[in-house]
Amino acid sequence: KILILDFGSQYTQLIARRVRELGVYSEIHPYDCGDDFITEFAPQGIILSGGPESVTGADTPRAPASVFTHGVPVLGICYGMQTMAAQLGGKVEAVEHREFGYAQVRAHGHSQLLNEIEDHTTPEGYGLLDVWMSHGDQVVGLPPGFKLIASTDSAPIAGMADEERRFYALQFHPEVTHTRQGKRILERFVRKLCQCEARWTTGNIIEDAIGKVRTKVGAERVVLGLSGGVDSSVVAALLQHAIGEQLTCVFVDTGLLRLNEGDQVMATFAEHMGVRVIRVNAEGRFLGALQGIADPEAKRKIIGRLFVEIFDEEAAKIEDARWLAQGTIYPDVIESAGSKTGKAHVIKSHHNVGGLPETMKLQLVEPLRELFKDEVRQIGLELGLPYEMVYRHPFPGPGLGVRILGEVRKEYADLLRRADAIFIEELYRHDLYDKVSQAFAVFLPVKSVGVMGDGRRYDYVVALRAVETVDFMTARWAHLPYDFLDLVSRRIINEVPGISRVTYDISGKPPATIEWE
Ligand code: XMP
Repeated sequence: KILILDFGSQYTQLIARRVRELGVYSEIHPYDCGDDFITEFAPQGIILSGGPESVTGADTPRAPASVFTHGVPVLGICYGMQTMAAQLGGKVEAVEHREFGYAQVRAHGHSQLLNEIEDHTTPEGYGLLDVWMSHGDQVVGLPPGFKLIASTDSAPIAGMADEERRFYALQFHPEVTHTRQGKRILERFVRKLCQCEARWTTGNIIEDAIGKVRTKVGAERVVLGLSGGVDSSVVAALLQHAIGEQLTCVFVDTGLLRLNEGDQVMATFAEHMGVRVIRVNAEGRFLGALQGIADPEAKRKIIGRLFVEIFDEEAAKIEDARWLAQGTIYPDVIESAGSKTGKAHVIKSHHNVGGLPETMKLQLVEPLRELFKDEVRQIGLELGLPYEMVYRHPFPGPGLGVRILGEVRKEYADLLRRADAIFIEELYRHDLYDKVSQAFAVFLPVKSVGVMGDGRRYDYVVALRAVETVDFMTARWAHLPYDFLDLVSRRIINEVPGISRVTYDISGKPPATIEWE
């Protein structure tokens, strides 16, 4: 396994994912996790990530000393290279012009890391690599024992290596896909230099997770809040394989779900997979609690609180329940670790509805805690979950509660569900669903005038929203074809009495958010 020491780069998670895609298990830990931790972790190789700080500044992060005495190969990337240079006796300086974006790197001489990996060849026979650079400092003096392995016009030392001690460093980022040979470079490092075997496969991950769950919970009962979202669905499938009858799922139907969603969840889990699922039809309670409430944050709080309350009631009825299963995944874990050490990390915490009851005397079992989303999806498929469920767009915890602007009413929710279902159905039919990151309809409780036949209509408006995004922190509105939008709009107005106008949201995030509330 590979240890990735995080210096706060926005690409750190990508390093871990690339390494795992190569079949090698990797974990991310803060750069200051300490020498003892590293010894205990017993990595076969260590990667030092990039980071936002400058090695030339006072009190900036350094790798623990044992990184360089542990005797395993080390790869420094960007900041990781600079700190390696600084710590081993080289020289680092701030550059006048920050380099950011595409660059072409010349590979020099022989190095086990870059040898024979190239995108082009110069007339003189040098290998050339198309890479992604982003840095404000650079190494200007090699540490003793190191040789030059790569350079660009503006960064004469863009790669260095001490092959005897197996220390390697790159100024560019092999983990981003813009570096075309990046994956091969990382493969060289983990497979050839660190000699890790490719054992991190979907089959092994499942087997391993099942074994761990069985050991942990023994013969005791486990409760899981099933929402129909990817993570809780995969946990349900996994636990069903691991402990079958000992699992009870509680599915709270808030009445704020999408068209037929509750029935689909029951069909997939209860009927198809034989999972024991308690469905709580709580539409009345949710709508009652939301009556007269228009403020988005107030609605979120009410929905979150009620959800926990209802889950709590049901879970308490399950005799002998000792464990609460949760769909926590690795990015959640790394983010919370990152915020403890105060490093820059992408966080989306305010979005989580309520969370699950803390008062319940249950111990936690979190079988996806070590997995990235793409790994979760892979094992979901392998465990037999339908593709549409595993690759479904994210759906906010408060559901339609934040897609009906202002006060939530059943009438509005019913209209919105039908409009939304038409939009989604057509996205699938036109092969556009997987091309957008999230798509949905929003209900606007205002009436506008229309004509239908000879009659005048005075009905509600829906807005369609579709965005493309990688991390949901920034997004661009999806440029869906006009003909497609035309078709969806016609279908909604014709098929959903009560809606007489459809608009398309062309706001980016920022400054708008993805949801309207
Ligand atoms: P915004 O609207 O902040 O949304 O651009 C970013 C992503 O977060 C989802 N979202 C939520 N998820 N509870 C959730 O579980 C919430 O209250 C919530 N609000 C927004 C949104 O759907 C998008 O994917």
